[in-house]
Amino acid sequence: MHCTCKLSDSVYWTGGCDRRMALFENLFPIPHGITYNSYLIMDEHTALIDTVDASISRQFLENVLHTLNGRPLDYLVINHMEPDHCANIEELLLRFPDITLVGNAKTFALMRQFYDFDFTGHMLTVKEKDSLGLGSHTLRFYLTPMVHWPEVMMTYEETEKLLFSADAFGSFGALSGNLFNDEVNLEQDWLSEVRRYYGNIVGKYGIQVQSALKKLSLLDIKMICPLHGLVWRSRLDQLFHQYDLWSRYEPEEQTAALFYGSMYGDTENAINILAHGLAGAGVKNICVYDISNTHVSTLIAEVFRCSHLLLAAPTYNNGIYPVMANFLHDMKALNLQNRTIGLLENGSWAPAAGRQIQAMLQEMKDVKVLDPVVTVRSSLKGETLSQLDRLKENLLLSLSL
Ligand code: FEO
Repeated sequence: MHCTCKLSDSVYWTGGCDRRMALFENLFPIPHGITYNSYLIMDEHTALIDTVDASISRQFLENVLHTLNGRPLDYLVINHMEPDHCANIEELLLRFPDITLVGNAKTFALMRQFYDFDFTGHMLTVKEKDSLGLGSHTLRFYLTPMVHWPEVMMTYEETEKLLFSADAFGSFGALSGNLFNDEVNLEQDWLSEVRRYYGNIVGKYGIQVQSALKKLSLLDIKMICPLHGLVWRSRLDQLFHQYDLWSRYEPEEQTAALFYGSMYGDTENAINILAHGLAGAGVKNICVYDISNTHVSTLIAEVFRCSHLLLAAPTYNNGIYPVMANFLHDMKALNLQNRTIGLLENGSWAPAAGRQIQAMLQEMKDVKVLDPVVTVRSSLKGETLSQLDRLKENLLLSLSL
């Protein structure tokens, strides 16, 4: 049975949700599911903006066919050729033999790579700022490469001022009926997932996101319609501001995120002492994570939020405790920069993690490591406690507290 939603008198949401899949991209936990958005414009010509993942094809097709109500689909606009949005192109070609696929040169190159179906004679290749009239609606195309793949473009509908933004401004999380951001508790239920999605999916491409934001700043946008998560029709300035901060690798808050790996609780003990010390001195919104028990995508989201990081790990096989090494690898891969970092290593006979973590941090841009690097030998003793206290004082100084 169909399940659609209206954005306006002539624009419909025809997407769907998957609450069964455990890992998005077979990598990221999605305990609250995922939404794949698709939008249908009903005008003199009909145009669908993107399709959905194979997991919800049946729901999607019912939604599209119900909304079309017997009319043919004239255009399919493909803003992003990643398979979570492209699994139904062939099905639409089979059902609507006169359909025109709208994409750019890179879109069609990727389509040939992923699929074997023949779309000769169905292509409309667009370039930057080309337009497509549908009747009373006009679509205009803006190329936004690497947000999140090279072929990505955004489509702006000029009459209703809708921005179909591909992955940008998306989120993990399935909809609970409410489609619009002003119908939900954003702070409680969505913003941390918007941040986790940005940091892990788009975070690497800050420069390209800045270029896209520059283009978008010239448009009068009433609604942002991403491929995942909520449709935004209020607080757009806040969303743009957060994207601006994240893509410049500026923290949202002057606060500390403490990340530890701990085999027997001694490293954890040091971090708890430090966290209470920081809180006692007035630092707010501190977060503490046992990185062995927290998915790295959540850790990355907190790095995007916080100005100061504390990394604490045992030495393991003469190297860095594996979960910390993985976390650092992700930070570097996602181009994380511009953070102040305190370090604590633990090693019972040959502590080496601190030095090796510093070497990895040196490969990142604008990362400052505070003195001292605290060395715990097995468990906290008087000398280590005074090192920890000095690190706390330097963290507070750096936080201007
Ligand atoms: Fe939701 Fe980059 O695909």
